[in-house]
Amino acid sequence: MCGIVGYVGKNAAVQVLIDGLKRLEYRGYDSAGLAILDKGVFSVLKKTGRVVNVEKLARKSKSPGTIGISHTRWATHGGVTDNNAHPHISSDGKIALVHNGVIENFLPLKHFLEGHGFTFSSETDTEVLSNLIAYHYKTLGGYNGNRVIESVRQSLMQVEGTYGIAVLCTDYPDQIIGARKSSPLILGVGQGEYILASDVTAFALRTQNVVFLRDDEIVCINRDEFSITTMEDNRVHASIETVDWAPDAVELGDYKHFMEKEIFEQPQSIENAMRGRFSQDSSTSHFGGLTLTPQELRHIDRILFCGCGSAWHSCLVAEHLIERFARIPVEVEYASEFRYRNAPLDKHTLVFIVSQSGETLDSLAALQESKRKGYPTLAITNVVGSTIARESDGGIYQRSGPEIGVASTKAFTAQLTILSMLALYLGRLRDMSYEDGIRFVEALKMLPQQVAQILNQAEYIQAIAHKYAHHRDFLFLGRQSLFPIALEGALKLKEVSYIHAEGYPAAEMKHGPIALISPECPSVFLATQKSIIKKTLSNIQEVKARGGPVIAVTTEECHFPKNLADDLIVIPHCHEALKPVLATVPLQLFAYYTSLARNCDVDKPRNLAKSVTVE
Ligand code: F6R
Repeated sequence: MCGIVGYVGKNAAVQVLIDGLKRLEYRGYDSAGLAILDKGVFSVLKKTGRVVNVEKLARKSKSPGTIGISHTRWATHGGVTDNNAHPHISSDGKIALVHNGVIENFLPLKHFLEGHGFTFSSETDTEVLSNLIAYHYKTLGGYNGNRVIESVRQSLMQVEGTYGIAVLCTDYPDQIIGARKSSPLILGVGQGEYILASDVTAFALRTQNVVFLRDDEIVCINRDEFSITTMEDNRVHASIETVDWAPDAVELGDYKHFMEKEIFEQPQSIENAMRGRFSQDSSTSHFGGLTLTPQELRHIDRILFCGCGSAWHSCLVAEHLIERFARIPVEVEYASEFRYRNAPLDKHTLVFIVSQSGETLDSLAALQESKRKGYPTLAITNVVGSTIARESDGGIYQRSGPEIGVASTKAFTAQLTILSMLALYLGRLRDMSYEDGIRFVEALKMLPQQVAQILNQAEYIQAIAHKYAHHRDFLFLGRQSLFPIALEGALKLKEVSYIHAEGYPAAEMKHGPIALISPECPSVFLATQKSIIKKTLSNIQEVKARGGPVIAVTTEECHFPKNLADDLIVIPHCHEALKPVLATVPLQLFAYYTSLARNCDVDKPRNLAKSVTVE
């Protein structure tokens, strides 16, 4: 939620800030703004709507300044107005601030600051922080050290909530101060320039050398160097790491949208998730980052998976696979529920947090709660160096590359692939036979080409999407490990096309949702499991009998009766446990093309943001 960029270097800051914001727009896109500090004076541009609106203003202003901060907003406190857009300048004009997060105690602080003569022109919690920094800056009059750093430090000690911030001060024309707590902030170390940003993608084309800042650290950057201190003013010796994302991974290339690009990248991203992770005899998998030994894993009695949104759906699939292969009881919780539920957990429980971004606040809080209780807590994340990746006891990277489309696609299928491999690994530590292991590895290795086969049907699926795009309600129905995929298909459709869609276990339909069935409410059936195909076909008959249109996804070995469905999508035959991966792909294409048919903004759907760093 919200993206911030700060730049100091030799180039005009405006273009670097705008380019960075465009890459961070997936984090929020209600409004955007920037402040350039030139000759001790701020020039501030803000506008509601997309970054491009600020870019238009910037073209007219042509500021030559080489230091500045910027922000793309996902509104929390205060409506979507120019005034509420960041940066926020303190009422004495000294401090400019951009902020990602929420200042929970902003009201008492606001009253305090009003009592000291500070005034407010927005409804945001952020303006309170910029005035608070200005207040401390003023009271630190004769301070010997760096007065801005100290005033930021004193302000942050008073603040409750979360923040990733970048701060400018008119008296320090060459420096930006950054700090973070539970919101991401990364320092890019370029050639004669430094960039602060919420995410590596903001500066991936300028540098791949990064410092991942930690909570409660304050960074000061100027044209020549950077320094990091803790809230207790202790010096931090930071290491500069190199991220191995290809710079063009953040470009659209020949695609029209990131969602399209990321759907079509799946043969590669699934391959990447598996690469180097099979045993030499191809009978099991292994993961370098799992910090528990096979002996320790054998003593695990229960696994708890936590995640949000699509990541939660991948956890539901994992429940089926791990229980089936390893016979270990699995529970799945929404991260947002787990953190407050105080669930009694078995002594030998292992906790997994699944999060593409590694920054989702609820998932991070679930991780912290699990660690506080002393459970070994591992993570499956995509973003290297993300907070969840760093705070967990170990884990598995997805290697999906940057996912920029707000609706998760390639990261979700990579999660499914890794969780299937995890089920294999745990299964082989227990009762799964060598032969079954070999068979499953063979099936996993087929996935990239099978996904490519489904992608070849894109035009066909586009035609189906066009046919149904005018409908207002959809049901998605699947059973067992395909039920989470029904949930995922419904989520994808509602996210990017604003059509109301619900996912249900197919047999549950008769307990209520069947009341919705009519010619106006199509059902998407996942009819891919041979063992229960007859049951699924009966459910389809029930829908057809009530005039409901049916789109079915099936496999050849299910021998789906001709003409039963109005539209049929056939996916390749694969191992039963891998059907969730393959069945996801046509649903992603269906959602993508429906969104296009309805002229929706597919990469930036309304009200959403990719990385949800507020509660
Ligand atoms: C859906 C989607 C979201 C995310 C959720 C968790 O398309 O993208 O539901 O899956 O916000 O995000 P991560 O995985 O980054 O924790």
